[in-house]
Amino acid sequence: MSFKDYQQTKKSGNFNKSRKSFSRGSNNRRDSGFNNSRNRFSAKKKVEQVTHDREQFIDIKFPNTFLHLKRRGMDLFTKNLNPGEKYFDELLTFKNVEGKKTELRHWDYTRSKLGAAIALKISQLGLYEGSKVLYLGASHGFTPSFVSDMVGEKGFVFCLDFAPRVVRDLYLLCQKRGNMAPIIADANHPEEYEELVSEVDVIFMDIAQRNQVEIFLKNFKFLKQDGVGLLALKARSVDVTRKPKHIFKETRELLEKEVIIADYKELDPHEKDHCFFVCKKK
Ligand SMILES: C[S@@+](CC[C@H](N)C(=O)[O-])C[C@H]1O[C@@H](n2cnc3c(N)ncnc32)[C@H](O)[C@@H]1O
Repeated sequence: MSFKDYQQTKKSGNFNKSRKSFSRGSNNRRDSGFNNSRNRFSAKKKVEQVTHDREQFIDIKFPNTFLHLKRRGMDLFTKNLNPGEKYFDELLTFKNVEGKKTELRHWDYTRSKLGAAIALKISQLGLYEGSKVLYLGASHGFTPSFVSDMVGEKGFVFCLDFAPRVVRDLYLLCQKRGNMAPIIADANHPEEYEELVSEVDVIFMDIAQRNQVEIFLKNFKFLKQDGVGLLALKARSVDVTRKPKHIFKETRELLEKEVIIADYKELDPHEKDHCFFVCKKK
């Protein structure tokens, strides 16, 4: 119905009639699309409820990663690559995985953009057991340690950061984990570390810089043709004066010129003013 038709209908008094006939139609509960979708929705809720009651730990689609559904909220865990070792005061717990008692490490997803993206049901990450990852902005190694759990002993995580103070901690962590290596370098200058990094399956970037997108794309030269680039974007670092939503939109447009965006999430409330892009090469 055009705006003109709408006005005419209103003037002629047919508006209420047509609204009535619409609501009569929608009262036919069996046929209405609305009710069908509502039934589908409650059916889905029911399945989730049953899953919750029967088994609280759920093995999700990402490697070595588990969700613990609780009455309110949930917890995230990874299978500990180094049983008995913990690095950030995280909780260790045991669970039967495929008949074997397995040690899991608690991953506080309110401290990790990658964790938050998983908690918010990101559809894909390109991470598998055995994946090679270039992690830009590794800091003390908190999230990198969980990526290291995810890719397992056959995978590898190149952990890059330019701040000597955090790389000292990162170095100690990497010494304890066979599948991580620290690199002290500026992600703005990939030519400085190209001799140290092999071709990778995944690039993950979490660095708060004004030119985050430029840095991210520069590092795509390390990514395999079918690899995945993950960008955790902090709006306030791009421009503190503008609304995060505008920055997210502008970043999407910038990225779309160079890559395919396979998924996108805003990370509120876990990580305020951050969003997460899953990108693939064109
Ligand atoms: C938000 S912290 C990363 C936290 C980490 N990803 C985690 O979840 O455990 C951002 C890090 O990026 C690093 N960084 C910022 N600009 C960088 C650059 N140009 N090259 C390398 N590292 C950079 C900072 O030193 C800082 O440690």
